[in-house]
Formats: sequence, C-alpha cells, structure tokens
Amino acid sequence: MLALLTGGSGFIGSHVADKLIERGIRVRVVDVVPPNRDDLEHYDASLLDLDRLRRAMSGVAVVFHLGAVADVRDAAEDPHYTESINTRGTINVLEAARRAKVPRVVYGSTTWVYSDTDGEELDEDTPLRAPSHIYTATKLASEYYCHAYSKLYGLKTTILRYGIPYGPRARSGAVIPIFVSKALRGEALTIAGDGSQYRNFVYVEDLAEGNVLALKPVAENRVYNLEGSTKITVREIAETIRKILGDVKIDYVEGRAGDFSGKEISNRRAREELGWEPRVPFEEGVRRYIEWHVQQEQAREKAWARVDTTLGQS
Ligand SMILES: NC(=O)c1ccc[n+]([C@@H]2O[C@H](COP(=O)([O-])OP(=O)(O)OC[C@H]3O[C@@H](n4cnc5c(N)ncnc54)[C@H](O)[C@@H]3O)[C@@H](O)[C@H]2O)c1
Repeated sequence: MLALLTGGSGFIGSHVADKLIERGIRVRVVDVVPPNRDDLEHYDASLLDLDRLRRAMSGVAVVFHLGAVADVRDAAEDPHYTESINTRGTINVLEAARRAKVPRVVYGSTTWVYSDTDGEELDEDTPLRAPSHIYTATKLASEYYCHAYSKLYGLKTTILRYGIPYGPRARSGAVIPIFVSKALRGEALTIAGDGSQYRNFVYVEDLAEGNVLALKPVAENRVYNLEGSTKITVREIAETIRKILGDVKIDYVEGRAGDFSGKEISNRRAREELGWEPRVPFEEGVRRYIEWHVQQEQAREKAWARVDTTLGQS
C-alpha cells in the first residue's frame, strides 16, 4: 500500500510518516522541504502545482493532506499567501486525487475551527460560526472542499481536527519549546499572572496514530476531533520542566488573568469509532521532547566544531 503525505517533512507529518512506515505502508512525501528520513520517497512539489500533484498520485491508495501554512502568526502576517497554500493547495490535492481515482483523502484540520462557536461542550456535530482568523478561515474552507468533493464526486474524505500538538520536532516558537530552551540556558521561566491559563495539549505521536486509525472504513466521510484529554496550565508546563531538569527558576510577573475558554472539545467519536485516545502522559511527552531537543543541540554543536576545525586548518 502506498500513502501520499503532503507536508510530510513538517512537525506532525513527519510523525505520521513514522507511524505509516511502522505499519509497513510505503510513504511518498510531497513537500517543498526534504523529509527527515531517507527510507521514503520525496516528491519535491508545491501544493500549487496541480500537474506535479497529479503525477505524484500515481499508484496511491490514500492521501494524507497536512501541507499548509500552519503557524497562525505567519498566516496573519501574509493572508494572501496563506490562502493560496491552505485553500488552493487543498483543492489541488482533492482535484489531483479525484482525477487519479484515489480511494481516500485524510485532511489535517484543527480544533481552532471551534474558536468562534458558542457553547461549552463541543463535538463534531456542533454547528460552526464564521471564523475570525484567516488561518481558521482557510482550514474551514478546506473542510468544506472535502465535504463538497465527497458529495459531488464520491471522493471519500476524512477530516481530522487536531488539538494543540507538542513533542519532538515541534516548532521553536511554541510555549513548551520556548520554556525548555530557556530552562536549558539557565534562564528563569516567566509566567504572566498566576499561570492558570490552560490548553489541552496532545502528544504528537498520539496524533499521528489517530491519522493511521483514520484508515478504518468507518472513517469514510467522517469528521473526528483528536484533542488532548487533560487540561495543562502554564504553571504545570513550567513545573513539569523543572521536575525533569531540576534547578529551574520560575518567576511570576504581573499579567492578565487566566484565559479560560470554558470550551470542552469531545474526543468521544474518535474513541468509539476509531479506538483512538491520547495515551502518552504529559510528563512523558515533555521528557521525550527534551531528549530530542538536547540531541539536536548536541548535533548542532558538533557540526559547528567541525566547521571551526576546518577553518582553523585553512
Ligand atoms: N502545529 C499545530 O499547532 C497544528 C494544530 C492543528 C492543526 N495543524 C495542521 O496540521 C498540519 C501540519 O501542521 P504542522 O504543525 O506539522 O506544520 P509544519 O509547518 O511543521 O508542516 C507543514 C509542512 O507543509 C509544507 N509546505 C508548506 N507549503 C508547501 C507547499 N506550497 N507545497 C508543499 N509543501 C508545503 C512545509 O514545508 C512543511 O513541511 C497543517 O495542515 C496544520 O494546519 C497544526
């Protein structure tokens, strides 16, 4: 079985590739950046290039579409470019899959689509409101395209709404990577307010497993939330890092009160239909992130040492 994975060189996509390969599924990554492992096929193509996407679909049994402008700050800075990648890119993937008669497309969406929705308990049947952010608008437009392609052309699609992921290969600008970097440099972790702001983080390998489980036939033309199961406050993040690394100073400075959203996003459908639930406890996930981060730093230092040696000899 051959899976085509857009965005397979990115944070979440690289873990989806790992899980697919673990299951004996061959992976073809479509990404403008090379992947982090070489036992998969890299197809260097942009989501904007429909012809290349069509060629990449040859022999493919399932498409996982994760390629995107995924950072909300980047999206806000360049809405026009974000729209092209996230929205036109998705319709290109769907169109290429339709023409190649690919049996299934799995789309990586986000629980942010619930941001503007009323109510405290939300699930996949909750009616959504028009989004206030350009990032969410593009993700929701892509969900609508998936829906339309399945209704109009019979292309089977599955929409996965990811919660906030963390773990190895995470982008450096997120709260856990920022805290870990500071702690390792011996700097204090600064918390604004009492640190009671929380998020439901989901460990990235759990999220990747949810993608593989979405191959089950029951997931055809279904939407699933893949949300973390426990609330983690900013204070707990800092304390978890201190517990793992020891001797980490935490400073509380005056700031806004905790931004409780009060929203609960249900995982029930994913649990009941796919047998998915988050398994890796937060502390274990942070420990794995730190191990990866330290290895990356050591590899970088070694590379610089080699450069210094070479320059010293010349
Ligand atoms: N990280 C999060 O917090 C989060 C949360 C919910 C949903 N998502 C969604 O999950 C998916 C993956 O996110 P991520 O965090 O792994 O992001 P990422 O930025 O790490 O990965 C995105 C990948 O898409 C590729 N890409 C960008 N433009 C491309 C183009 N024109 N052609 C081909 N490839 C292109 C990038 O090179 C990158 O490898 C995205 O669709 C994102 O919207 C992310």
